[in-house]
Amino acid sequence: MNVNGTPTRTIWPAREGGAVWIIDQTRLPHEFVTQRLNDLGAVAHAIRAMLVRGAPLIGATAAYGVALGMAEDPSDEGLARACQILLATRPTAVNLRWAIEAMAESLRALPPDQRALAAWAKAGAICDEDVALNEAIGDHGLGIIKDLARAKGVEKGGEGRINILTHCNAGWLATVDWGTALAPLYKAHDAGLPIHVWVDETRPRNQGASLTAWELNSHGVPHTVIADNTGGHLMQHGLVDMVIVGTDRTTATGDVCNKIGTYLKALAAFDNAVPFYVALPGPTIDWTVNDGLREIPIEQRDAAEVTRVWGRTAAGALEWVTITPTGSPAANYAFDVTPARLISGLITERGVCAASAAGLAGLYPERAPAPVPAGSAEGKGAAATADGAL
Ligand code: MRU
Repeated sequence: MNVNGTPTRTIWPAREGGAVWIIDQTRLPHEFVTQRLNDLGAVAHAIRAMLVRGAPLIGATAAYGVALGMAEDPSDEGLARACQILLATRPTAVNLRWAIEAMAESLRALPPDQRALAAWAKAGAICDEDVALNEAIGDHGLGIIKDLARAKGVEKGGEGRINILTHCNAGWLATVDWGTALAPLYKAHDAGLPIHVWVDETRPRNQGASLTAWELNSHGVPHTVIADNTGGHLMQHGLVDMVIVGTDRTTATGDVCNKIGTYLKALAAFDNAVPFYVALPGPTIDWTVNDGLREIPIEQRDAAEVTRVWGRTAAGALEWVTITPTGSPAANYAFDVTPARLISGLITERGVCAASAAGLAGLYPERAPAPVPAGSAEGKGAAATADGAL
């Protein structure tokens, strides 16, 4: 994405090496501040305190964290310690574990004196891969938006628009580049399709109001920020043609864990026959989990994120204000799980599939569980024949 006319990624290595640069997302939309992370501790802090956030970017940042850890201590113990510190930063987004495991696997095979350099290259490769995956998601999602435009009779330069609702920030800022849910929107806008985006504010941290709106604004994509509870009303009145969100972890059966409030949007979309799509790169699929509701750890964050709001005052100062009575407790569940049955389709780098075990297995045959032998007790009733393609 361009920032002030310059193509920019959300994370990049320092030219002289030995450090990595990020955008401090806690300062957006009011200030664009970059920060240099010099060691493993700084990377762990940046993930924990959400200077960087969004599942793919958390993974990419952790990869550089391992690389910086290798510069400090490339021994087996140092590698294990770096992985352990980074894994403990945030529990829900599975890309974190995926990136750390990918780093550890490639480094364990090397003697310690070669690890620091190799880790740096591997972290860079993980970032490049993320960009390619997201751009491919954009191309597949663009096909869906084109179909919607055709069905609605909306054309380039003509009357009407395609209204797309999104939740949280699954854009450029949540990845290394492009975004997941927003990649198809950028592609559609760049192709001249008249899209308009309803941006859920996404309390409590306001990733929609602060980050998605900032991104769309910077790229010139027409959008409107709405309070989180507005989506259902818009859908009842035919003002949403499609919902598209990202995910922090998708199970092998197609359940989707994403920012708190996603489930309520899916329910409203289902009730109003509005297509509800989830965009995700392969590393966001947790092939070890089948039941999203019971098996995915849901991060609970500081209640202060609910009781306080940060913003610019009329006098121009950036301040925190408290919005709840002193003494009222608050709970802060960061994610929820949307069951596969409410999802119209998963948009991946390999194409679009049903949100189901068969759908995902059709796109990722090398990751799918081995077929159960015919006639075995386990095999009875399994949807082994459906390919799940949409
Ligand atoms: O708590 P966050 O801001 O890290 O949560 C981010 C989300 O829930 C995104 O929708 C998800 O990571 C997908 S990002 C491509």
